[in-house]
Amino acid sequence: RQSIQIAPSVLAADFARLGEQVAEAEAAGAELIHIDVMDGRFVPNLSMGPVVVEALRRVTSLPLEAHLMILEPERYVSDFAAAGASCILVHPEATPNVHRALQLIREHGLKAGLVLNPGTPLTYFENLLPEIEQALLMTVNPGFGGQALIPSSLERLERLRALRNRLNPTCPIEVDGGVNTETALELVRRGADILVAGSAVFKGEVARNIQALRESYGA
Ligand code: DX5
Ligand code: ZN
Repeated sequence: RQSIQIAPSVLAADFARLGEQVAEAEAAGAELIHIDVMDGRFVPNLSMGPVVVEALRRVTSLPLEAHLMILEPERYVSDFAAAGASCILVHPEATPNVHRALQLIREHGLKAGLVLNPGTPLTYFENLLPEIEQALLMTVNPGFGGQALIPSSLERLERLRALRNRLNPTCPIEVDGGVNTETALELVRRGADILVAGSAVFKGEVARNIQALRESYGA
């Protein structure tokens, strides 16, 4: 397998200097940028939309992935595609038609990603792994940065890795929530290929933080 990738989540960045912060992350070797989209309905919080993707598309060459924490995410697939997202991640808890949403994402020429909340059965991956290019496991309840990783996520991650190896061996597994220098090694051991990290990257000095995160899992 290729080496572990870091996806800084801009939710934890300083929004007054977002472009600069993303450029710092890119210069420090981050492999992709994670953009958390919240509607105040699927999750209690509000965050950002396609305009932020469009703005960041102009300041970085890294792939931009949109994590849609919104009801009926299929309504916004074409907007995020037009804004320059490279991957759109959708939750089955947010739509009665998640298969159709994934299909729509691929029709727009983007990578389709499926995300599950901590309380959602992994069965969704059993059914949908063959249809996706990225599998994201929430390791906190979505809605806010800076939460502690839910310990039972580790066992779910191992089960997801087994499913992935059987059903779609080239599909990377990503984890989101509570990733930091204390938890990264265990997550990598259990099967994470991509680490989303918000607070652990943007609180403090970005380059130093990314370096520390890599060192914590021996990269
Ligand atoms: C939570 C978001 C995460 C969040 C992670 O709803 O999906 O991407 O930014 O933040 P940290 O890394 O601080 O737990
Ligand atoms: Zn996220």
